[in-house]
Amino acid sequence: MLADFEQIDFDVSKIESWPYVKALKLGNLDLSKINLIAENTKHLETELVKFVSSQKVSENLLKRRNGITKHLTKVLTNKFRGSKVSTFGSFQSGLNLTNGDIDLCLQFNGEKPKKVLKKIARMLNEDGMDNVKLITTAKVPIVKFIDSQSKIPVDISINNSLAVHNTELLRRYSSIDSRVKPFIISIKYWARNRGISDASMGTFSSYAWTLIAINYLQSLENKVLPNVLKKDGSQTVEIDGIKYDIGMYSNNELDFVTQNHSTTGELVSGFFESLAKDWPWNNGVISVGSGKILTRKEKNWVANKPYISDAIQDSQIKRLGKFSLPVEDPFDNKHDLSRVLDVEGIFEIRDEVLRAYQLISENTDWDTITEIKYPEITPNEPKLDLFEDLRNQEDDKTRQDLKILYEQLKVIENSVSLRESERSDAIKMSKALRRNAELAKEQSGLSSELRPRRTKIDELQSKRDSSNNHYIPVHFIEEELSRVYSILTTEATNRVELSLEKEKQLFSWFFELQSMYEHSKMTRKYHREFVKLLEQQQHSIEHIKDIRQEMIEIQSFGKFTDFDDLAMKLLKELNPLKRERRNLRREIGRLEAWLRKQTHFNNNNHSKHKGSRKKFVNNRKVDDVKSKVVSGDSFSLQDLEVLLKNGGLSSVNQSKTKTRKGKNKHKKNNYSVTPQRGKRGKSSKNQ
Ligand code: CTP
Ligand code: MG
Repeated sequence: MLADFEQIDFDVSKIESWPYVKALKLGNLDLSKINLIAENTKHLETELVKFVSSQKVSENLLKRRNGITKHLTKVLTNKFRGSKVSTFGSFQSGLNLTNGDIDLCLQFNGEKPKKVLKKIARMLNEDGMDNVKLITTAKVPIVKFIDSQSKIPVDISINNSLAVHNTELLRRYSSIDSRVKPFIISIKYWARNRGISDASMGTFSSYAWTLIAINYLQSLENKVLPNVLKKDGSQTVEIDGIKYDIGMYSNNELDFVTQNHSTTGELVSGFFESLAKDWPWNNGVISVGSGKILTRKEKNWVANKPYISDAIQDSQIKRLGKFSLPVEDPFDNKHDLSRVLDVEGIFEIRDEVLRAYQLISENTDWDTITEIKYPEITPNEPKLDLFEDLRNQEDDKTRQDLKILYEQLKVIENSVSLRESERSDAIKMSKALRRNAELAKEQSGLSSELRPRRTKIDELQSKRDSSNNHYIPVHFIEEELSRVYSILTTEATNRVELSLEKEKQLFSWFFELQSMYEHSKMTRKYHREFVKLLEQQQHSIEHIKDIRQEMIEIQSFGKFTDFDDLAMKLLKELNPLKRERRNLRREIGRLEAWLRKQTHFNNNNHSKHKGSRKKFVNNRKVDDVKSKVVSGDSFSLQDLEVLLKNGGLSSVNQSKTKTRKGKNKHKKNNYSVTPQRGKRGKSSKNQ
């Protein structure tokens, strides 16, 4: 059955970009006439055997990936104290392609995930990684980037625990039957190379394709895969307050034996045939969790408006309603993985399915079927040989390149340091001008205090100096008061009797003194306040003078915001320069490492030659010694050592038998080697 959206009438000019769908609509592609025969599947099987072996992960790749993972784990756990890094994804499930990404999950609850990802993105940029992208609109926000040296893509997500569990689910499936891995990686490889495996581009994710593939193996009449989910609540995890049932049967518990003995080639061609001829989404939902394709009704996932058919008619419609090509996420079964699809993505998918099916029926090579359609979005094969380009190049040329790189580095370093010092000056100026502004504010504050304080000072002065006040010190009045008081109150027996007139005078003086005392106290208070205010006024005036002096020097340079802008502009210029500097340094390091390696190699070779030379010299020496023995020539202790190290006397015997056949006249000497032996003819004595 055609896809439902192909069954309606529409203007084919709207689907020019999808030639197979168009041919189908025009009747130029008749699926009922295409039937796969044994030759097709056999051919595909042979091709897939080659392909699968090409996807074997080399020791070198594994080492590289582990190196990157180890490095990132260290950097991340250092930066986010108390965090943990786990790996998940296809390399963990075993369903990987050689150019698959590294999927890392940072478990960290110290800060909001998006903030953490932002920090990671900045860190990676500073570290010189390629294509650092922060994707915060996805269901699970991630940072994506490409390791600058190996070109291996990496995804980092935060607290993505469910992915760790569904990776385990995929691993379980891949362990059930040996055809699962080759089958799934073939589908994934095809989808990736044909540009229909990127959720951020409106097509299915690699994960969704894996589920579609597994579900195909589960829904065959002769199943290759059973359903491994228990769904009995016996094993659950809680993530962000939601409980997920992650229980899975072990292979033993399942006791599943398949009756399906198809080859991987047959399974892959069957997969394309079923998608081409029996588009599952017309009424179905891909549900690995149920072990079969559910009907939309069963799942209650009926397509929402606008439908794909609406979008064909109306090019304004870009986003589709819910459940366009539903694929249930096994643990998070409310999540439909087709939510990311857009209209073009769906047509791309359909077109590619039809294309693959037709090409298989024509015994086309797997390389052509999976030919890369959009090189710019298809990940490269990892670059494992860091010196690939240098191997076929003369070392002199590499040295020359190195020289040029050093020159370029010098230029960049100059530009960087120039901008850095300019920037630091700009920051200093901005700070100074900012201080100026603060001082100006302070000055105006102080100035505004001067006038009212002056009025107050004048007021106090006039109060203090008010008309009848001839300022008499308070202590003087106090003393006089006490003296008069004592005269007036001392008993008459102790003093000369006062006349009434005198007593009256004293009383009135006493009262006058009292009033003077009060007055003088007030005056003293005014005086003190006056002095205090005067001091304050003086202090403010001096402070203003200081401020003026400090401000004058830089006032003519302009506003601090100008310098802030300049510092920002310089920073923007510095970032790419620094990146270039980092790249140059890295490249210089690479070339130097290569040249060092070469020198080492040459030296080794040299010393190897030296070794062989030494060996050669040694051999000559041994031969000399042996011939001395044979000839009875004089013989040193060193000669004896050489002889013992090289097989002893018996070897002389052998070599003699070999080389000097028949010459037995020196035989006797061979057995009587002593340091004293020699021409001097002490041999016979010593025997
Ligand atoms: N994942 C998920 N939900 C998605 C996409 C991915 O839970 N919508 C999880 C899956 O566990 C998946 C992992 O994230 O295995 C990594 O996703 P991705 O790299 O897209 O898929 P892989 O299976 O790793 O495939 P590839 O080999 O293409 O990297
Ligand atoms: Mg992956």
